[in-house]
Amino acid sequence: MSFPYLRPRRLRKNKYLRDLVAETRISPRDFIYPIFVKEGISEPEEIDAMPGQYRWPLEKVHEIVGKALDVGVHNILIFGIPSEKDELGSSAYSSDGIVQKAVRKIRKEFGNEVVIHTDVCLCHYTSHGHCGLLTKKCRDGFCEHVVDNDPTLELLAKVAVSHAEAGADVVAPSSMMDGMVRAIREALDRAGFTDVAIMSYAAKYASAFYGPFRAAADNAPAHGDRRTYQMDPRNGEEALKEVNLDIEEGADILMVKPALSYLDVIKRVKDTFPYYPLAAYNVSGEYSMVKFAARNGLVDEKKIILEILHSIRRAGADIVITYHAIEASEWLKEGLDIDLF
Ligand code: PBG
Repeated sequence: MSFPYLRPRRLRKNKYLRDLVAETRISPRDFIYPIFVKEGISEPEEIDAMPGQYRWPLEKVHEIVGKALDVGVHNILIFGIPSEKDELGSSAYSSDGIVQKAVRKIRKEFGNEVVIHTDVCLCHYTSHGHCGLLTKKCRDGFCEHVVDNDPTLELLAKVAVSHAEAGADVVAPSSMMDGMVRAIREALDRAGFTDVAIMSYAAKYASAFYGPFRAAADNAPAHGDRRTYQMDPRNGEEALKEVNLDIEEGADILMVKPALSYLDVIKRVKDTFPYYPLAAYNVSGEYSMVKFAARNGLVDEKKIILEILHSIRRAGADIVITYHAIEASEWLKEGLDIDLF
């Protein structure tokens, strides 16, 4: 009779031995918590499509930021939901826009205890819901509306500078326009914000996993979809091209989005560019699927969330942008971890 000579089970027999050899750890320091701030409301509104997440009024946004800080989450990402939209998305770059006001208020309240990241895009602010300007282009009698790349860059740069003026630490361009990182870097530098960093949504896919977010933030395109600018889910190598361009244009932090169906992309990007911090966005659809499955008793909510967060880090993400940030940090603080149930 022959016995196994190599026995991986030896290192699995005790929790503390498993902890000792665990390759991946998560901590509140790895998380960025997304926050929706909505103009024109006075009480937080729970988002039906995202149980446990809220749209916050400006007057109360400090409550949720305070909650994040209490559990050790010091990085937040602000999304604005304006009450006025127009063709040019002008409320996105007005100095008293909802994001600009929220940034000022949060900074005033918490100083440098919080790192404020802001989403830089037009889709929440344009009447047509696209991430760039729409232009009617005609050629030989055939006309179509296209999302016009180059004129959009100027507006994105204005949005980023207005966020920096309000006090943002990191601007996060998410529109997937070509050249957006360079346009924003140049504008920030020209305006004197050489120390404001750029976290670029470098490999952002045209994904059905954004469904609940669009319900939450009212940014769905009125016509068409985002496939002329966001990436095709069939492509993996192309992510390296997108990431490489953003590095050349001056990105400080890179991002892959969504996370769970794109763990291979996270891994490839980290292996290819190990010296750049990499964020992964655990998006709304990923969050809501877990919440609704747990509500129906199909999965153990805490276990599955901790498994997901570890998986994203194991794939190679240094940073996880996640709606689970606060609850997961609470569990970690209570001493609960993936190996303790
Ligand atoms: C667009 C933007 C989107 C998300 C963040 N910023 C998606 C989109 O509508 O293309 C999605 C985030 C999520 O689903 O959690 N600027």
